[in-house]
Amino acid sequence: MKIDKNKRTKTSSGFYVSQHASVNTDNPIPTPKAEAPDVLRVAYMELQVTDLAASRKFYVDVLGLHVSHEDDNEIYLRSSEEFIHHNLLLKKGPVAAVGAFSYRVRSPEDVDKAEAFYKELGCRTERRKDGFVEGIGDSVRVEDPLGFPYEFFYDVDHVERLAWRYDLHVPGALVRLDHFNQVTPDVPRAAAYMQDLGFRVTEEIADGETVYAAWMRRKPTVHDTAMTGGDGPRMHHVAFATHEKHNILAICDRLGALRQSDAIERGPGRHGVSNAFYLYLRDPDGHRVEIYTQDYWTGDPDNPVVSWDVHDNQRRDWWGTPVVPSWYTDASLVLDLDGNPKEVVERTDDSEMEITIGADGFSYTRADDDEEMPDWKKGEFKLGNQL
Ligand SMILES: [Fe+2]
Repeated sequence: MKIDKNKRTKTSSGFYVSQHASVNTDNPIPTPKAEAPDVLRVAYMELQVTDLAASRKFYVDVLGLHVSHEDDNEIYLRSSEEFIHHNLLLKKGPVAAVGAFSYRVRSPEDVDKAEAFYKELGCRTERRKDGFVEGIGDSVRVEDPLGFPYEFFYDVDHVERLAWRYDLHVPGALVRLDHFNQVTPDVPRAAAYMQDLGFRVTEEIADGETVYAAWMRRKPTVHDTAMTGGDGPRMHHVAFATHEKHNILAICDRLGALRQSDAIERGPGRHGVSNAFYLYLRDPDGHRVEIYTQDYWTGDPDNPVVSWDVHDNQRRDWWGTPVVPSWYTDASLVLDLDGNPKEVVERTDDSEMEITIGADGFSYTRADDDEEMPDWKKGEFKLGNQL
């Protein structure tokens, strides 16, 4: 089918494409006059954990991340294709929470730009020329307008890229950090601010009135981060990529063999949004980790925005597998720059869970079906009808 670029078009796959995302907000964060930093990509997450030994078992012994550095209080981990010092920092602390969502910028000057950008927004910022953590130099940390602890840096120690070290690889090898996912009450407000920061929306879940989630990228994939509607600021998940979907199945097999299948929260499956293959795990503190592979190239300037109807049963799982309620309700706290948990603000817009999971079965598999789902399918294998 030919796509009219000036229109919102329904594709043969059942979702919509257009050149514009639904980020209209009546409650905008002011656009700074200061130039936004040139963000390259998602770089690492600082995760506060309550039992460092238990976390090490999960991330190193089970998932196979590589240790760049460790001591009694911190473990620095990286994926097999990474050459910067780390992608995940596990830090021992009193509560399970996120200390930083960290992005790499293109040049040292972009760290200055990030600092000026957030100062103009009136946000709390802290600049450390020697960095906040091992392996990373000059950085700025901010409490962003949505309440998230964001970090921007350029200077970093290089470590060996272990891609060629097949002797070290496990069948479920995590090869790259792929993205963050953040929970925030007002998605259009968040997406508009992220656009000011230079991000582009690639996909969204919406209906005529409400935006439930938006995916945004700097690197040319579906996202570096996503904004999921809910009580926030909270961290929904951090995602690592594998090469292939069989690597994800290998992680499931391994967890089964270790009698740790209770770490699997959702999946494996194929997403509608992003088209990626996925698996969601919960670490020993309950932090959610996604294993993700094979989304698509989004680097062209006119890359179409994909818009999913919130009632489309295939938006979050292309095979129509129901989303478990904990996936909608649970998320990790985030810390302010003093290390204290940020207060969580309730979402007042419609909740995706409430409108898509329920006895009424609001969702559809075929938009133009005029017949109801037969009784033998209701309450048996479609979770949405059970609850
Ligand atoms: Fe994700």
